[in-house]
Amino acid sequence: MAGIKILTEHINVPGIETFEVYRKMGGYRSVEKALKTMTPDAVTEEVKKSGLRGRGGAGFPAGMKWSFLAKPEGVPRYLVCNADESEPGTFKDRYLMSRIPHALIEGMIVSSYALGAKTSYIYVRGEMLYVIKILEKAIAEAYNAGFLGKNILGTDYSLDLYVHPGGGAYICGEETALLESLEGKRGNPRNKPPFPAVKGLYGCPTVVNNVETIASVSWIVNNGGDEYAKIGIGKSTGTKLISACGHINKPGVYEIELGVPVEEFIYSDEYCGGIKNGKKLKAVIAGGSSVPVLPAHLILKTAKGEPRLMTYESLNDGGFQTGTMLGSGGFIVMDESVCIVKNTLSLAKFYHHESCGQCSPCREGTGWLEKVLQKIEYGKGTMQDIDLLVGIANNIEGKTICPLGEAAAWPVQSAVRHFRDEFEWHVKYPHEATKKGAVFQGM
Ligand code: NAI
Ligand code: SF4
Repeated sequence: MAGIKILTEHINVPGIETFEVYRKMGGYRSVEKALKTMTPDAVTEEVKKSGLRGRGGAGFPAGMKWSFLAKPEGVPRYLVCNADESEPGTFKDRYLMSRIPHALIEGMIVSSYALGAKTSYIYVRGEMLYVIKILEKAIAEAYNAGFLGKNILGTDYSLDLYVHPGGGAYICGEETALLESLEGKRGNPRNKPPFPAVKGLYGCPTVVNNVETIASVSWIVNNGGDEYAKIGIGKSTGTKLISACGHINKPGVYEIELGVPVEEFIYSDEYCGGIKNGKKLKAVIAGGSSVPVLPAHLILKTAKGEPRLMTYESLNDGGFQTGTMLGSGGFIVMDESVCIVKNTLSLAKFYHHESCGQCSPCREGTGWLEKVLQKIEYGKGTMQDIDLLVGIANNIEGKTICPLGEAAAWPVQSAVRHFRDEFEWHVKYPHEATKKGAVFQGM
């Protein structure tokens, strides 16, 4: 099964963004199969069997989330697709939606059918206006062809599908903030529980899934959950879109079978093609900027010396002491020219700017992280400041309403854990460290 493509098999076919070509390539078969030959529960059962995990970042089993959906009599249920892709380093969902929009729409129809949703939404990051236009055109085509609207394909199942432009803030990608925003309010995260599966959009049971997760459901319906579970390794089943960027020869979006060794992913010509200009690999942020950064030796091999694999488990081997997360698959590669302090500062600025301000540890803490990092980066830091950074991050982690707190804390904690020398160099040799383009080479 090596090299199998589930989502991107037809992505380069000319005209694949149109209904006509997508249909010719076998598109919408899963809708016919599900609506005409399967019960909604049978579809959910296949998704459970597949082991498909949420592709937005958290990796929560999709079938389990679906089975948590409350089904009180007479209360509508919703499926909301989280297409508010904003995680730094992550650009896979926009690639899929803009190149092969019907893949998401097909997945939305079968998933909505399974969940008993009669109205579903795709919440797209507002800045991606071009994606919104492409999706709207594709949705209109699907209505015209009888795959959306009343009595789809002559069955008694009806579905309306809407695209909703996002509110323009990173936090609107957090699922409960997204629901607030979809309801027309400011995108402030809600406390969980209750989870959206119980109390979501307009207080009704709602499943929120990422674009890639939903698009994978069609293949599962066509081929069966067991077949999907054969792809990948262990609990990391199926394929994953990885958006690779940074100092590599071939940045781009790759669909990998889960289980590819990280070393192969970085160095082989099939994927990233190695480090640019023959430089040395310094560090990698593997799953979008919200996950811990790892130095070269730990991203290539686990602390036990085993090859690190592109799976949820292997990337997290050793927990956050020596591991990281697959997250959203935003794979950021840094070569030896990168200053880790500067890089951490730039992430801290981002999270400070994007904090919604509801909880004090995040609102105040992200600002502190930025200020202390600025001090160190600009040659005014002290040794105590390095410990202060870790102290602030520890006091944010686990003490906030939503995971933006952790997203701000983990990069800082891991940067100090793995690159402490570099922070100390900034403190001990501020004149050296603040020279333009200066990078730590050892003390
Ligand atoms: P989470 O772990 O809190 O939840 C995962 C999903 O499972 C949610 O949909 C939640 O509602 C559901 N869930 C968990 N326990 C449940 C239960 N007992 N009953 C019903 N449903 C339950 O993580 P969250 O907040 O959804 O996502 C955080 C991740 O998002 C981070 O790992 C980060 O990497 C990623 N992220 C991705 C971005 C992107 O642009 N793709 C942007 C920012 C963060
Ligand atoms: Fe808002 Fe930050 Fe609290 Fe999340 S953790 S709710 S972003 S203040």
